[in-house]
Amino acid sequence: MGYTRRDFLTRVGQIGGYGAAFSAMQTLGLMSAKGEQWKAIAAAPGVGKDTKVVVLGGGMGGLVAAYEMKLLGYDVTVLEARERPGGRVWTGRKGDKVEFVDGTTQTIDWSDGNYQNMGAGRIPSTHWTILKYCRDFKIPLEIEVNTTRSSLLQNDAANGGKPVTQRKVEGDTRGHVSELLAKCVVGGALDQDFSAEDKARMLTFLNSYGDLDKANKYVGGSRGLGRAGFKVPPGAGKQVGVNDDPMDMKTLLDENAWNGLLFTEEWAQQATMMQCVGGNDAIPYAFAKQLGPIVKYSSPVTAFKRTAKGVSVTYTQGGAEKNLEAQYCIVALPFEILKKIDNDLSPAFKSVVTGSVASGSYKIAWEARRFWEQDYNIYGGLSFLSQGPSPVWYPSANLMADTGVVVCGYMEEQGTPFWDLTLDQKFAASKANMEKLHPGCGPEMKKPIYVSWRQIKYNEASWIRSWGGGRAGYNIITEADGPYYFAGDTVSNVNAWMEGAALSAKRVVQTISDKVKSA
Ligand code: PHE
Repeated sequence: MGYTRRDFLTRVGQIGGYGAAFSAMQTLGLMSAKGEQWKAIAAAPGVGKDTKVVVLGGGMGGLVAAYEMKLLGYDVTVLEARERPGGRVWTGRKGDKVEFVDGTTQTIDWSDGNYQNMGAGRIPSTHWTILKYCRDFKIPLEIEVNTTRSSLLQNDAANGGKPVTQRKVEGDTRGHVSELLAKCVVGGALDQDFSAEDKARMLTFLNSYGDLDKANKYVGGSRGLGRAGFKVPPGAGKQVGVNDDPMDMKTLLDENAWNGLLFTEEWAQQATMMQCVGGNDAIPYAFAKQLGPIVKYSSPVTAFKRTAKGVSVTYTQGGAEKNLEAQYCIVALPFEILKKIDNDLSPAFKSVVTGSVASGSYKIAWEARRFWEQDYNIYGGLSFLSQGPSPVWYPSANLMADTGVVVCGYMEEQGTPFWDLTLDQKFAASKANMEKLHPGCGPEMKKPIYVSWRQIKYNEASWIRSWGGGRAGYNIITEADGPYYFAGDTVSNVNAWMEGAALSAKRVVQTISDKVKSA
């Protein structure tokens, strides 16, 4: 009889316990103990000496590329259309303007200390590249509370439209599913799959996993743990905790609600999530500080074309047309902007860009008394509604302050009825949804700001939805097109994350450095 890896691990587990099995698995390469980490670009110091590079766009991709190039001695310049770095890594504070392409302008008037990350809002612990830069630049990070059992789920079509805590939906669903599965096990439905021993172990597991009673029934929690919440919370004296009545299984079978609950199961949304103290724009500003005059602000690119030696880029600065020549050009612009710039990308590249489709996520943010903390015991996290603007994203920063900025509505709006509403109607819809979760609190929500990324000047997209030509198109733009190299989260498999931008930028610097070295 063959001796399988599984047999081996079971043996090790039996003899040495869990710890031994765990380290044996690491030795076998089944589980890596260390997390993946930032890797240095493999290039000799000074490899970029006497090589001129122009970077189009001072968002995360452009900034990381320029920073790494500067370290390698390249003569690098970043052309940025705005007067600030960061692109979508943008934090809105008092006095900041939200400018749409149609000229609509909103000015933020929240109190000092209140802010909203309009774009990049959270950093996963698995995004080691961006975290490495935060560490190097000594950017203080804090926890971004991505989920809390105290936050709410609401669906007009369930529970009479009344919101339910996530703890209740989570606890009750788990209880019901465990009870059902236990019934199957006891009833013999799984006899083909399980030995008697497996069945017994499964029942023990389900009993604990679902918090079932001795008869393997779900009665709203049998251990007094309050996993699904209490009707009467445990207190002093004679006040013992009384379980909340379980919701019925039928009500809990709502896919929309579960989308909200399951999103933090994703690799990139799992705890621990982080954010920069005071706003995530600390990251682009730290890069900008390192780069100094390398970044030219208020310098939108209008055209670029090939030359005998590389590229020639035209941009404007204070109304005047300017020109910049370089050997290499890193294109780190949003595709919606690139579509409008006069360029001589090869037909294959052009068709990927012109055929790409943009996503248009928006955020609506309000300033209010922290009613979610003071009245609902919700500290950070997100509540989800099945209809209309959702989720509500509560601030993780400055807990216990009197007021805070809260998002009600962060989703794709293109092609939805929401897109066609007027600004006032959008605010009304956002407020009405908050009112469903937190009745009576709607009037406390003030000074709304609507950031519609599809309409934001110099972006016109929240992130990419699809590349022209799909995956084949993506493969094209990850290669060089003569002197042109694309960077940005769009040119990575980590779309809509700073990490994707940083990874793609590092990759491009590596590719160019390999080329420079061999030239
Ligand atoms: N990174 C963005 C966010 O966390 C957008 C995104 C959402 C990307 C969900 C992937 C998955 O909100």
